Amino acid sequence: MTAVIHPNFFEHTLDTIPKATGLVVICVDAAGSFGPSAKRVNRLMKGTLKKFADTEIFEKMNEGDIQRFPAPLGLAADAVLLLKMKKRPAIEVARKCGASIAKEAGTATINLFVTANARAAQLAFGITLRRYRFDAHKTDDATAYGQINVYVASVDKNKDEYETLGAISEGVFFTRDLVNEPANILTTTEFADRLIDLKKQGLKVSVLEEADMEKLGMHSLLGVGMGSTSPSKIVIMEWKGGGKEKPLALVGKGVVFDTGGISIKPAGGMEDMTMDMGGAGVVAGVMKTLAMRKAKANVVGLVGLVENMPDALAQRPGDVVKSMKGDTIEVINTDAEGRLVLADVLWYAQKTYKPTGVIDLATLTGAIIIGLGHDNAGAFSNNDKLVNDFLKAASTEQEGAWRMPLGAAYDKLIDSRIADIKNVGGRAAGSITAAQFLQRFVEPDMPWIHLDIAGVALLKSDSDFAPKGATGWGVRALNRLIADTYEA
Ligand code: BES
Ligand code: MN
Ligand code: ZN
Repeated sequence: MTAVIHPNFFEHTLDTIPKATGLVVICVDAAGSFGPSAKRVNRLMKGTLKKFADTEIFEKMNEGDIQRFPAPLGLAADAVLLLKMKKRPAIEVARKCGASIAKEAGTATINLFVTANARAAQLAFGITLRRYRFDAHKTDDATAYGQINVYVASVDKNKDEYETLGAISEGVFFTRDLVNEPANILTTTEFADRLIDLKKQGLKVSVLEEADMEKLGMHSLLGVGMGSTSPSKIVIMEWKGGGKEKPLALVGKGVVFDTGGISIKPAGGMEDMTMDMGGAGVVAGVMKTLAMRKAKANVVGLVGLVENMPDALAQRPGDVVKSMKGDTIEVINTDAEGRLVLADVLWYAQKTYKPTGVIDLATLTGAIIIGLGHDNAGAFSNNDKLVNDFLKAASTEQEGAWRMPLGAAYDKLIDSRIADIKNVGGRAAGSITAAQFLQRFVEPDMPWIHLDIAGVALLKSDSDFAPKGATGWGVRALNRLIADTYEA
Protein backbone atom coordinates (compact mmCIF):
# COMPACT_ATOMS: atom_id res chain seq x y z
CA MET A 1 0.00 0.00 0.00
CA THR A 2 1.36 3.40 -0.92
CA ALA A 3 1.14 5.48 2.26
CA VAL A 4 -0.41 8.92 1.96
CA ILE A 5 1.96 11.61 3.25
CA HIS A 6 -0.43 13.83 5.15
CA PRO A 7 0.70 17.38 5.90
CA ASN A 8 1.66 18.61 9.37
CA PHE A 9 0.18 22.01 10.20
CA PHE A 10 2.14 24.34 12.47
CA GLU A 11 1.48 27.73 13.96
CA HIS A 12 3.40 30.13 11.78
CA THR A 13 6.59 31.57 13.25
CA LEU A 14 8.89 33.49 10.98
CA ASP A 15 11.85 32.28 13.02
CA THR A 16 11.40 28.77 11.62
CA ILE A 17 12.33 29.96 8.15
CA PRO A 18 16.13 30.19 8.46
CA LYS A 19 16.30 26.82 10.28
CA ALA A 20 14.00 24.77 8.00
CA THR A 21 15.74 21.99 6.08
CA GLY A 22 14.76 20.61 2.67
CA LEU A 23 12.73 23.15 0.71
CA VAL A 24 11.27 26.46 1.78
CA VAL A 25 8.23 27.40 -0.29
CA ILE A 26 6.75 30.87 -0.34
CA CYS A 27 3.98 32.38 -2.48
CA VAL A 28 4.09 35.70 -4.29
CA ASP A 29 1.12 37.17 -6.16
CA ALA A 30 1.22 38.58 -9.68
CA ALA A 31 1.60 42.16 -8.39
CA GLY A 32 4.84 41.07 -6.75
CA SER A 33 3.61 42.06 -3.30
CA PHE A 34 5.32 40.08 -0.55
CA GLY A 35 3.63 38.65 2.55
CA PRO A 36 5.49 38.33 5.88
CA SER A 37 7.18 35.00 4.99
CA ALA A 38 8.34 36.12 1.55
CA LYS A 39 9.63 39.31 3.13
CA ARG A 40 11.61 37.34 5.70
CA VAL A 41 13.08 34.99 3.07
CA ASN A 42 13.95 37.99 0.92
CA ARG A 43 15.72 39.66 3.82
CA LEU A 44 17.68 36.48 4.61
CA MET A 45 18.63 36.24 0.93
CA LYS A 46 19.75 39.85 0.91
CA GLY A 47 17.10 41.10 -1.50
CA THR A 48 17.37 38.35 -4.14
CA LEU A 49 13.64 37.64 -4.21
CA LYS A 50 12.59 41.26 -4.58
CA LYS A 51 15.09 41.70 -7.38
CA PHE A 52 13.67 38.64 -9.08
CA ALA A 53 10.09 39.89 -8.68
CA ASP A 54 11.02 42.98 -10.70
CA THR A 55 12.24 40.96 -13.67
CA GLU A 56 10.46 40.07 -16.87
CA ILE A 57 10.96 36.39 -16.00
CA PHE A 58 8.70 36.84 -12.99
CA GLU A 59 6.19 38.85 -14.99
CA LYS A 60 5.97 36.10 -17.60
CA MET A 61 5.41 33.33 -15.05
CA ASN A 62 1.88 31.92 -15.00
CA GLU A 63 -0.08 31.28 -11.85
CA GLY A 64 1.22 28.00 -10.43
CA ASP A 65 4.67 28.37 -11.99
CA ILE A 66 7.62 27.95 -9.67
CA GLN A 67 11.07 29.55 -9.66
CA ARG A 68 13.75 27.62 -7.78
CA PHE A 69 16.58 29.37 -5.91
CA PRO A 70 19.13 26.68 -5.05
CA ALA A 71 21.56 26.92 -2.13
CA PRO A 72 20.10 30.17 -0.74
CA LEU A 73 22.40 32.29 1.41
CA GLY A 74 21.17 32.78 4.96
CA LEU A 75 18.87 29.72 5.03
CA ALA A 76 19.54 26.12 6.09
CA ALA A 77 17.27 24.90 3.27
CA ASP A 78 18.62 23.30 0.08
CA ALA A 79 16.47 25.60 -2.01
CA VAL A 80 13.77 28.23 -1.90
CA LEU A 81 10.78 27.73 -4.22
CA LEU A 82 8.90 30.85 -5.19
CA LEU A 83 5.36 29.98 -6.27
CA LYS A 84 3.41 32.57 -8.20
CA MET A 85 -0.08 32.49 -6.78
CA LYS A 86 -2.86 34.84 -5.64
CA LYS A 87 -3.51 35.35 -1.94
CA ARG A 88 -7.06 33.99 -2.35
CA PRO A 89 -7.01 31.63 -5.31
CA ALA A 90 -9.99 29.49 -6.28
CA ILE A 91 -9.86 26.07 -4.64
CA GLU A 92 -9.03 24.33 -7.92
CA VAL A 93 -6.18 26.79 -8.57
CA ALA A 94 -4.76 26.21 -5.08
CA ARG A 95 -4.85 22.43 -5.60
CA LYS A 96 -3.07 22.71 -8.94
CA CYS A 97 -0.44 24.96 -7.36
CA GLY A 98 0.03 22.35 -4.65
CA ALA A 99 0.51 19.68 -7.30
CA SER A 100 3.16 21.78 -9.04
CA ILE A 101 5.00 22.19 -5.74
CA ALA A 102 5.00 18.40 -5.30
CA LYS A 103 6.25 17.89 -8.84
CA GLU A 104 9.06 20.41 -8.41
CA ALA A 105 9.99 19.13 -4.95
CA GLY A 106 10.56 15.48 -5.87
CA THR A 107 11.21 13.60 -2.62
CA ALA A 108 12.47 16.60 -0.61
CA THR A 109 10.92 17.79 2.64
CA ILE A 110 8.53 20.65 1.93
CA ASN A 111 8.16 23.62 4.29
CA LEU A 112 5.32 25.73 3.04
CA PHE A 113 4.99 29.18 4.60
CA VAL A 114 1.51 30.53 3.92
CA THR A 115 0.54 32.82 6.78
CA ALA A 116 -1.59 35.17 4.79
CA ASN A 117 -3.01 32.55 2.44
CA ALA A 118 -6.58 31.38 2.76
CA ARG A 119 -6.07 28.13 0.87
CA ALA A 120 -3.35 26.34 2.83
CA ALA A 121 -5.33 23.10 3.29
CA GLN A 122 -6.19 22.96 -0.44
CA LEU A 123 -2.56 23.60 -1.37
CA ALA A 124 -1.51 20.80 0.95
CA PHE A 125 -4.15 18.51 -0.60
CA GLY A 126 -2.70 19.20 -4.06
CA ILE A 127 0.77 18.29 -2.82
CA THR A 128 -0.52 15.11 -1.21
CA LEU A 129 -2.40 13.91 -4.31
CA ARG A 130 0.63 14.42 -6.55
CA ARG A 131 3.11 12.91 -4.07
CA TYR A 132 2.34 9.33 -5.12
CA ARG A 133 4.68 6.65 -6.33
CA PHE A 134 3.91 2.99 -7.01
CA ASP A 135 7.11 1.29 -5.92
CA ALA A 136 5.74 -1.94 -4.47
CA HIS A 137 7.83 -3.92 -6.97
CA LYS A 138 11.03 -1.84 -7.00
CA THR A 139 13.77 -3.72 -5.17
CA ASP A 140 16.24 -0.84 -4.90
CA ASP A 141 15.55 1.32 -1.86
CA ALA A 142 14.09 4.45 -3.36
CA THR A 143 14.50 7.64 -1.32
CA ALA A 144 11.52 8.02 0.97
CA TYR A 145 9.36 11.11 0.60
CA GLY A 146 10.07 13.87 3.11
CA GLN A 147 7.48 15.52 5.32
CA ILE A 148 5.03 18.18 4.21
CA ASN A 149 5.15 20.97 6.82
CA VAL A 150 2.64 23.75 6.41
CA TYR A 151 3.03 26.91 8.51
CA VAL A 152 -0.29 28.69 8.88
CA ALA A 153 -2.02 31.39 10.89
CA SER A 154 -4.70 29.02 12.21
CA VAL A 155 -3.78 25.37 12.77
CA ASP A 156 -7.24 24.27 13.91
CA LYS A 157 -9.07 25.75 10.95
CA ASN A 158 -6.70 24.10 8.49
CA LYS A 159 -6.67 20.75 10.27
CA ASP A 160 -10.48 20.80 10.14
CA GLU A 161 -10.58 21.57 6.46
CA TYR A 162 -7.93 18.98 5.69
CA GLU A 163 -9.70 16.15 7.52
CA THR A 164 -12.09 15.45 4.64
CA LEU A 165 -9.36 16.05 2.07
CA GLY A 166 -7.11 13.51 3.78
CA ALA A 167 -9.86 10.90 3.54
CA ILE A 168 -10.15 11.62 -0.18
CA SER A 169 -6.39 11.17 -0.65
CA GLU A 170 -6.60 7.81 1.11
CA GLY A 171 -9.36 6.69 -1.26
CA VAL A 172 -7.52 7.95 -4.35
CA PHE A 173 -4.29 6.18 -3.35
CA PHE A 174 -6.21 2.96 -2.66
CA THR A 175 -7.69 3.11 -6.18
CA ARG A 176 -4.34 3.90 -7.78
CA ASP A 177 -2.59 1.02 -6.01
CA LEU A 178 -5.27 -1.43 -7.15
CA VAL A 179 -5.17 -0.19 -10.75
CA ASN A 180 -1.36 -0.19 -10.93
CA GLU A 181 -1.02 -3.67 -9.47
CA PRO A 182 -0.19 -6.40 -12.04
CA ALA A 183 -2.61 -9.27 -12.59
CA ASN A 184 -0.39 -12.03 -11.18
CA ILE A 185 -0.51 -10.21 -7.83
CA LEU A 186 -4.00 -8.74 -7.96
CA THR A 187 -5.96 -11.93 -8.65
CA THR A 188 -9.70 -11.96 -7.96
CA THR A 189 -8.96 -13.50 -4.56
CA GLU A 190 -6.29 -10.94 -3.65
CA PHE A 191 -8.61 -8.13 -4.80
CA ALA A 192 -11.43 -9.48 -2.62
CA ASP A 193 -9.04 -9.79 0.34
CA ARG A 194 -7.97 -6.15 0.00
CA LEU A 195 -11.63 -5.12 -0.01
CA ILE A 196 -12.47 -7.33 2.98
CA ASP A 197 -9.68 -5.41 4.73
CA LEU A 198 -11.82 -2.27 4.44
CA LYS A 199 -13.84 -3.64 7.37
CA LYS A 200 -11.15 -1.93 9.47
CA GLN A 201 -12.53 1.34 8.16
CA GLY A 202 -16.02 0.44 9.38
CA LEU A 203 -17.48 -0.82 6.10
CA LYS A 204 -19.64 -3.93 6.01
CA VAL A 205 -18.07 -6.22 3.40
CA SER A 206 -19.48 -9.46 2.02
CA VAL A 207 -18.59 -11.75 -0.89
CA LEU A 208 -20.68 -13.76 -3.35
CA GLU A 209 -18.70 -16.82 -4.46
CA GLU A 210 -19.28 -18.79 -7.67
CA ALA A 211 -21.68 -21.20 -5.95
CA ASP A 212 -23.78 -18.26 -4.70
CA MET A 213 -23.85 -16.69 -8.16
CA GLU A 214 -24.76 -20.05 -9.67
CA LYS A 215 -27.83 -20.16 -7.40
CA LEU A 216 -28.75 -16.62 -8.39
CA GLY A 217 -28.53 -17.56 -12.07
CA MET A 218 -25.70 -15.14 -12.89
CA HIS A 219 -24.51 -16.98 -15.98
CA SER A 220 -23.67 -13.80 -17.83
CA LEU A 221 -20.94 -12.96 -15.28
CA LEU A 222 -19.93 -16.56 -14.65
CA GLY A 223 -19.42 -17.22 -18.36
CA VAL A 224 -16.64 -14.63 -18.50
CA GLY A 225 -14.54 -16.26 -15.76
CA MET A 226 -14.80 -19.84 -17.04
CA GLY A 227 -11.40 -19.78 -18.74
CA SER A 228 -9.57 -18.65 -15.62
CA THR A 229 -8.29 -20.57 -12.61
CA SER A 230 -9.07 -17.51 -10.48
CA PRO A 231 -12.59 -17.80 -9.06
CA SER A 232 -15.14 -15.13 -10.01
CA LYS A 233 -16.53 -13.09 -7.13
CA ILE A 234 -18.82 -10.20 -6.35
CA VAL A 235 -17.68 -8.10 -3.39
CA ILE A 236 -20.23 -5.86 -1.69
CA MET A 237 -19.18 -2.93 0.48
CA GLU A 238 -21.85 -1.12 2.50
CA TRP A 239 -21.59 2.25 4.17
CA LYS A 240 -24.55 3.28 6.30
CA GLY A 241 -23.94 6.79 7.50
CA GLY A 242 -27.35 8.15 6.59
CA GLY A 243 -30.88 7.62 7.88
CA LYS A 244 -33.46 5.08 6.79
CA GLU A 245 -33.34 5.97 3.10
CA LYS A 246 -32.34 3.43 0.43
CA PRO A 247 -28.73 3.62 -0.69
CA LEU A 248 -27.06 4.92 -3.79
CA ALA A 249 -25.43 1.95 -5.57
CA LEU A 250 -21.99 2.13 -7.15
CA VAL A 251 -21.19 -0.76 -9.48
CA GLY A 252 -17.70 -1.50 -10.84
CA LYS A 253 -16.21 -3.65 -13.59
CA GLY A 254 -13.39 -5.63 -12.04
CA VAL A 255 -11.78 -7.64 -14.84
CA VAL A 256 -8.41 -8.30 -13.21
CA PHE A 257 -6.97 -9.16 -16.62
CA ASP A 258 -8.62 -9.02 -20.05
CA THR A 259 -6.92 -11.18 -22.68
CA GLY A 260 -10.09 -10.96 -24.74
CA GLY A 261 -10.75 -14.64 -24.08
CA ILE A 262 -11.18 -16.84 -27.17
CA SER A 263 -11.67 -13.61 -29.17
CA ILE A 264 -8.09 -12.95 -28.08
CA LYS A 265 -6.53 -9.50 -28.25
CA PRO A 266 -3.34 -8.80 -30.23
CA ALA A 267 -0.08 -8.96 -28.22
CA GLY A 268 0.85 -5.27 -28.57
CA GLY A 269 -0.42 -3.37 -25.55
CA MET A 270 -2.20 -6.32 -24.01
CA GLU A 271 -0.20 -5.71 -20.82
CA ASP A 272 -2.34 -2.61 -20.24
CA MET A 273 -5.30 -4.86 -19.54
CA THR A 274 -4.13 -5.15 -15.92
CA MET A 275 -6.12 -1.93 -15.50
CA ASP A 276 -9.38 -3.48 -16.69
CA MET A 277 -10.52 -3.56 -13.06
CA GLY A 278 -10.39 0.25 -12.97
CA GLY A 279 -14.13 0.67 -12.40
CA ALA A 280 -14.01 -1.65 -9.41
CA GLY A 281 -10.93 0.21 -8.19
CA VAL A 282 -12.77 3.54 -8.19
CA VAL A 283 -15.79 2.08 -6.40
CA ALA A 284 -13.45 0.69 -3.72
CA GLY A 285 -11.65 4.03 -3.36
CA VAL A 286 -14.90 5.96 -2.97
CA MET A 287 -16.16 3.51 -0.34
CA LYS A 288 -12.90 3.88 1.60
CA THR A 289 -13.18 7.67 1.48
CA LEU A 290 -16.82 7.64 2.62
CA ALA A 291 -15.94 5.44 5.57
CA MET A 292 -12.87 7.45 6.54
CA ARG A 293 -14.74 10.73 6.53
CA LYS A 294 -17.81 9.15 8.10
CA ALA A 295 -20.11 10.38 5.33
CA LYS A 296 -23.73 11.01 6.32
CA ALA A 297 -25.10 8.95 3.44
CA ASN A 298 -26.04 5.37 2.60
CA VAL A 299 -23.99 3.95 -0.24
CA VAL A 300 -23.44 0.39 -1.39
CA GLY A 301 -20.53 -0.53 -3.66
CA LEU A 302 -20.64 -3.75 -5.68
CA VAL A 303 -17.77 -4.99 -7.82
CA GLY A 304 -17.73 -7.96 -10.19
CA LEU A 305 -14.28 -9.57 -10.06
CA VAL A 306 -13.37 -11.93 -12.91
CA GLU A 307 -10.47 -12.79 -15.18
CA ASN A 308 -11.05 -13.13 -18.93
CA MET A 309 -8.76 -15.91 -20.20
CA PRO A 310 -8.76 -18.29 -23.18
CA ASP A 311 -8.84 -21.94 -22.17
CA ALA A 312 -10.51 -25.24 -22.97
CA LEU A 313 -13.23 -24.31 -20.51
CA ALA A 314 -13.56 -20.71 -21.69
CA GLN A 315 -16.81 -19.57 -23.26
CA ARG A 316 -16.89 -19.44 -27.08
CA PRO A 317 -18.05 -16.81 -29.52
CA GLY A 318 -21.61 -17.80 -30.39
CA ASP A 319 -22.45 -19.18 -26.94
CA VAL A 320 -25.77 -18.16 -25.44
CA VAL A 321 -25.93 -17.46 -21.71
CA LYS A 322 -28.83 -16.60 -19.44
CA SER A 323 -28.47 -13.59 -17.16
CA MET A 324 -29.83 -13.26 -13.63
CA LYS A 325 -32.52 -10.98 -15.04
CA GLY A 326 -33.62 -13.86 -17.25
CA ASP A 327 -32.69 -12.28 -20.58
CA THR A 328 -30.57 -14.50 -22.83
CA ILE A 329 -27.37 -13.11 -24.37
CA GLU A 330 -25.60 -14.23 -27.52
CA VAL A 331 -21.87 -13.82 -26.90
CA ILE A 332 -20.65 -12.75 -30.35
CA ASN A 333 -17.29 -11.56 -29.06
CA THR A 334 -15.77 -12.82 -25.79
CA ASP A 335 -13.73 -9.59 -25.62
CA ALA A 336 -16.89 -7.60 -24.94
CA GLU A 337 -16.84 -9.14 -21.45
CA GLY A 338 -17.24 -6.10 -19.21
CA ARG A 339 -20.91 -5.62 -20.12
CA LEU A 340 -21.53 -9.33 -19.42
CA VAL A 341 -20.11 -8.91 -15.93
CA LEU A 342 -21.98 -5.66 -15.24
CA ALA A 343 -25.32 -7.03 -16.49
CA ASP A 344 -25.57 -9.41 -13.53
CA VAL A 345 -24.05 -7.07 -10.94
CA LEU A 346 -26.39 -4.24 -12.00
CA TRP A 347 -29.41 -6.50 -11.76
CA TYR A 348 -28.37 -7.93 -8.41
CA ALA A 349 -27.77 -4.42 -7.04
CA GLN A 350 -31.26 -3.25 -8.01
CA LYS A 351 -33.08 -6.39 -6.82
CA THR A 352 -31.23 -6.59 -3.51
CA TYR A 353 -30.87 -2.97 -2.43
CA LYS A 354 -33.70 -1.13 -4.21
CA PRO A 355 -31.29 1.80 -4.58
CA THR A 356 -32.34 5.41 -5.19
CA GLY A 357 -29.88 5.48 -8.10
CA VAL A 358 -27.17 3.42 -9.73
CA ILE A 359 -23.81 4.60 -11.07
CA ASP A 360 -21.59 2.09 -12.82
CA LEU A 361 -17.94 2.59 -13.72
CA ALA A 362 -16.08 0.50 -16.26
CA THR A 363 -13.06 0.48 -18.55
CA LEU A 364 -15.63 -0.69 -21.05
CA THR A 365 -14.62 0.25 -24.59
CA GLY A 366 -11.60 1.21 -26.65
CA ALA A 367 -14.06 3.27 -28.69
CA ILE A 368 -14.49 5.82 -25.90
CA ILE A 369 -10.75 6.58 -26.22
CA ILE A 370 -11.22 7.18 -29.94
CA GLY A 371 -14.13 9.50 -29.18
CA LEU A 372 -12.98 11.41 -26.09
CA GLY A 373 -9.28 10.67 -25.67
CA HIS A 374 -7.74 10.71 -22.21
CA ASP A 375 -9.19 13.93 -20.77
CA ASN A 376 -12.83 12.99 -20.44
CA ALA A 377 -14.72 9.90 -19.38
CA GLY A 378 -17.97 9.15 -21.22
CA ALA A 379 -21.12 9.68 -19.16
CA PHE A 380 -24.31 7.93 -20.32
CA SER A 381 -27.54 8.41 -18.43
CA ASN A 382 -31.31 8.04 -18.44
CA ASN A 383 -31.69 10.84 -15.89
CA ASP A 384 -30.84 14.49 -16.60
CA LYS A 385 -30.83 15.58 -12.95
CA LEU A 386 -28.50 12.84 -11.76
CA VAL A 387 -26.08 13.20 -14.64
CA ASN A 388 -26.02 16.99 -14.41
CA ASP A 389 -25.29 16.77 -10.70
CA PHE A 390 -22.48 14.38 -11.51
CA LEU A 391 -21.04 16.52 -14.31
CA LYS A 392 -21.04 19.51 -12.00
CA ALA A 393 -19.24 17.57 -9.27
CA ALA A 394 -16.70 16.25 -11.77
CA SER A 395 -16.01 19.71 -13.14
CA THR A 396 -15.53 21.15 -9.64
CA GLU A 397 -13.05 18.37 -8.92
CA GLN A 398 -11.30 18.88 -12.27
CA GLU A 399 -12.07 15.34 -13.41
CA GLY A 400 -13.16 15.44 -17.05
CA ALA A 401 -16.50 13.91 -18.03
CA TRP A 402 -18.63 14.40 -21.11
CA ARG A 403 -22.22 13.33 -21.68
CA MET A 404 -22.84 10.87 -24.52
CA PRO A 405 -26.19 9.93 -26.08
CA LEU A 406 -28.42 6.89 -25.68
CA GLY A 407 -31.40 6.06 -27.88
CA ALA A 408 -33.66 3.43 -29.39
CA ALA A 409 -31.89 3.54 -32.77
CA TYR A 410 -28.63 2.42 -31.13
CA ASP A 411 -30.49 -0.20 -29.14
CA LYS A 412 -31.60 -1.96 -32.34
CA LEU A 413 -27.94 -2.64 -33.17
CA ILE A 414 -27.70 -5.19 -30.38
CA ASP A 415 -30.80 -7.25 -31.21
CA SER A 416 -29.82 -10.90 -31.63
CA ARG A 417 -31.13 -13.40 -34.19
CA ILE A 418 -31.24 -16.30 -31.74
CA ALA A 419 -31.24 -14.74 -28.24
CA ASP A 420 -32.80 -11.67 -26.56
CA ILE A 421 -29.70 -9.55 -27.09
CA LYS A 422 -26.16 -9.86 -28.43
CA ASN A 423 -23.08 -8.50 -26.72
CA VAL A 424 -21.65 -6.41 -29.56
CA GLY A 425 -23.22 -4.11 -32.12
CA GLY A 426 -20.52 -3.70 -34.75
CA ARG A 427 -17.90 -0.97 -35.13
CA ALA A 428 -20.22 2.03 -35.30
CA ALA A 429 -20.91 3.82 -32.00
CA GLY A 430 -19.12 1.11 -30.02
CA SER A 431 -19.28 2.93 -26.69
CA ILE A 432 -22.96 3.75 -27.12
CA THR A 433 -24.04 0.21 -28.02
CA ALA A 434 -22.09 -0.97 -24.95
CA ALA A 435 -24.08 1.50 -22.84
CA GLN A 436 -27.32 0.39 -24.51
CA PHE A 437 -26.47 -3.17 -23.56
CA LEU A 438 -26.09 -2.12 -19.92
CA GLN A 439 -29.36 -0.19 -20.04
CA ARG A 440 -31.24 -3.42 -20.76
CA PHE A 441 -30.26 -4.42 -17.23
CA VAL A 442 -31.39 -1.18 -15.62
CA GLU A 443 -35.01 -0.86 -14.57
CA PRO A 444 -36.81 1.78 -16.66
CA ASP A 445 -37.45 4.26 -13.83
CA MET A 446 -34.12 3.75 -12.10
CA PRO A 447 -31.87 6.86 -12.22
CA TRP A 448 -28.64 5.55 -13.71
CA ILE A 449 -25.28 6.74 -15.00
CA HIS A 450 -22.77 4.61 -16.84
CA LEU A 451 -19.21 6.01 -16.80
CA ASP A 452 -16.88 4.59 -19.43
CA ILE A 453 -13.45 5.29 -17.92
CA ALA A 454 -11.25 3.34 -20.38
CA GLY A 455 -9.45 6.56 -21.40
CA VAL A 456 -8.95 8.14 -17.99
CA ALA A 457 -8.21 5.36 -15.49
CA LEU A 458 -4.54 5.03 -16.45
CA LEU A 459 -2.35 7.45 -18.40
CA LYS A 460 0.97 7.04 -20.19
CA SER A 461 2.13 10.49 -19.11
CA ASP A 462 1.95 12.65 -15.99
CA SER A 463 -1.30 14.51 -15.34
CA ASP A 464 -1.97 17.45 -13.02
CA PHE A 465 -2.57 15.37 -9.93
CA ALA A 466 -0.84 12.07 -10.64
CA PRO A 467 2.40 10.74 -12.07
CA LYS A 468 1.98 8.49 -15.11
CA GLY A 469 0.00 5.33 -14.37
CA ALA A 470 -3.27 5.03 -12.47
CA THR A 471 -5.03 8.35 -11.86
CA GLY A 472 -7.78 7.46 -9.42
CA TRP A 473 -10.15 9.39 -11.74
CA GLY A 474 -13.66 9.55 -10.30
CA VAL A 475 -13.01 9.15 -6.59
CA ARG A 476 -13.10 12.90 -6.02
CA ALA A 477 -16.10 13.50 -8.32
CA LEU A 478 -18.22 10.72 -6.83
CA ASN A 479 -17.30 11.72 -3.31
CA ARG A 480 -18.38 15.27 -4.08
CA LEU A 481 -21.61 14.15 -5.74
CA ILE A 482 -22.46 12.22 -2.60
CA ALA A 483 -21.45 15.11 -0.31
CA ASP A 484 -23.37 17.73 -2.30
CA THR A 485 -26.55 15.88 -3.24
CA TYR A 486 -26.99 13.04 -0.74
CA GLU A 487 -25.65 14.62 2.43
CA ALA A 488 -26.83 18.17 1.87
N1 BES B 1 -11.33 -3.77 -21.54
C1 BES B 1 -11.66 -3.51 -22.90
C2 BES B 1 -11.78 -2.03 -23.25
C3 BES B 1 -10.53 -1.22 -23.10
C4 BES B 1 -9.75 -0.93 -24.20
C5 BES B 1 -10.16 -0.68 -21.88
C6 BES B 1 -8.61 -0.14 -24.08
C7 BES B 1 -9.03 0.11 -21.75
C8 BES B 1 -8.25 0.38 -22.86
C9 BES B 1 -12.99 -4.19 -23.22
O1 BES B 1 -13.27 -5.34 -22.52
C10 BES B 1 -12.94 -4.55 -24.67
O2 BES B 1 -12.14 -5.39 -25.00
N2 BES B 1 -13.78 -3.94 -25.48
C11 BES B 1 -13.81 -4.20 -26.87
C12 BES B 1 -15.26 -4.31 -27.29
C13 BES B 1 -15.44 -4.82 -28.66
C14 BES B 1 -15.04 -6.28 -28.71
C15 BES B 1 -16.88 -4.65 -29.03
C16 BES B 1 -13.12 -3.04 -27.57
O3 BES B 1 -13.23 -1.90 -27.11
O4 BES B 1 -12.42 -3.29 -28.54
MN1 MN C 1 -12.46 -7.03 -23.45
ZN1 ZN D 1 -12.37 -5.52 -20.70
